[in-house]
Amino acid sequence: MEKKKKSSFSNSLGFVLAAAGSAVGVGNIWRFPYLVAQDGGGLFLIVYLILVMTFGFTLLTTDVAIGRRTHEHALRAFGAMDKHWGFLGWITFLVPAMIMTYYTVIGGWVTKYFVTYLTGSGSQAAQDGYFNSFITAPVAPVVFMLIFLAATAFIVYRGVEKGIEKFSRIVMPGLFLLIIGIAVFSLTLRVSDGENVRTGLQGLAVYLIPNMEGVTPSRFLGILLDAMSQIFFSLSVSMGIMITYGSYVKKDVDLGKSLGRIEFFDTFVAFLAGMMIIPAVYVFSGTEGMSAGPGLMFVSLPKVFDAMGPVGTIVGLAFFLMVIFATLTSCVSIMETLVANCMEVFRWDRKKMCLVITVLAAVGAVVICMGYNVFYFEVTLPTGKAGQQLLDVVDYISNSFLMPAISLLTCIFVGWVMKPKWIIEEMEASGHTFTRKGLYTVMIRYVTPVMMLILFLQSAGVFNLVKSWFGK
Ligand code: PHE
Repeated sequence: MEKKKKSSFSNSLGFVLAAAGSAVGVGNIWRFPYLVAQDGGGLFLIVYLILVMTFGFTLLTTDVAIGRRTHEHALRAFGAMDKHWGFLGWITFLVPAMIMTYYTVIGGWVTKYFVTYLTGSGSQAAQDGYFNSFITAPVAPVVFMLIFLAATAFIVYRGVEKGIEKFSRIVMPGLFLLIIGIAVFSLTLRVSDGENVRTGLQGLAVYLIPNMEGVTPSRFLGILLDAMSQIFFSLSVSMGIMITYGSYVKKDVDLGKSLGRIEFFDTFVAFLAGMMIIPAVYVFSGTEGMSAGPGLMFVSLPKVFDAMGPVGTIVGLAFFLMVIFATLTSCVSIMETLVANCMEVFRWDRKKMCLVITVLAAVGAVVICMGYNVFYFEVTLPTGKAGQQLLDVVDYISNSFLMPAISLLTCIFVGWVMKPKWIIEEMEASGHTFTRKGLYTVMIRYVTPVMMLILFLQSAGVFNLVKSWFGK
């Protein structure tokens, strides 16, 4: 049977922007700054940078090269490489399927906040309990989720070049300008309450200077694992997304160079997000004001914007516009992966597949929304995190449990069954040399699998279990 012509990005810039669009998301904006504040400031930055250039680079290279070489999406790619490994494609497919349900819910929250600032009611968002009463409401979170999902579906429906690439080309430079603008503004902040003066530049020092206080070897391991799991999520690797995007890259593109740019872009945006958020929170609430995860973006920051006075409305609006750009391009990559995989399996056209996936995603997302009212519960995860809801549980299974497992299996498969040469050949298929091939070989065969095993055991709660056996 003749193969249907597949879609592709028009050139390497199109690919870099679309992939960076996937990589830059709430992970960069609400998770990275929080981890830096919690894990020793500059110390975390250094650890993160080293890990991105080694582990992040290895995982990203593997995914994209698999996609381009097999010209398949995750579901088929692994089986096409070796028929005994087809199961890995199925496990990989589960991750975007799970993430899709809650990412649209978060996208809905962002949309709601954007609208709140747009209509000039930003100070309401700064009131205690605003976020909680919004997400626990029965209807509003569903409505905003549907708006966000419809926007995502429309871009995916338009296709790879006319939808995803075109949208990323417009939005990513915009995102970049907005984040630089807000970060610079953050540094100029200054607040005095009587004798104490706090400035943005002091906040910058808190962000950049390594804080070694209380860093024991076991604490250092904790920091290492935090950075490692952040890298997965942030680079969108080990979930089939970069395999799909890789399959859209033309053969003449220098992959090594493009991947370097994606790593750089993702890390730089995370760095800027920290530079924007940490000084601002520091100036208005001290470092204790830094809460984790959604709390940071939807609770702490609106308070900071409110404290800025009238200009806060504009900064808040710019901020949430930037976050919408970031979440939308990420959600598009998740949905594209689901649609593209299913199109292959069911042999349906894009239009029909988009419709089906949108309906399924909407159903899943409604269930996640109900996790804050009808299905409300609080559980403690194996990692020891207490008071978690449905969204956190799904996030835990997909990101903390499945992703390290998938990476571990992928490393074993690529490093030992297919051999690194298989990837290196693809990296050099365009005629350019793959400069980091020595590093890649060592990383994929030895270092990454060991790290993934440790990460998996930690996420599965094995370390906590062992600690409890020894009574401490
Ligand atoms: N990489 C995105 C971020 O940093 C998250 C993401 C996860 C995007 C899964 C797509 C798929 O927020």
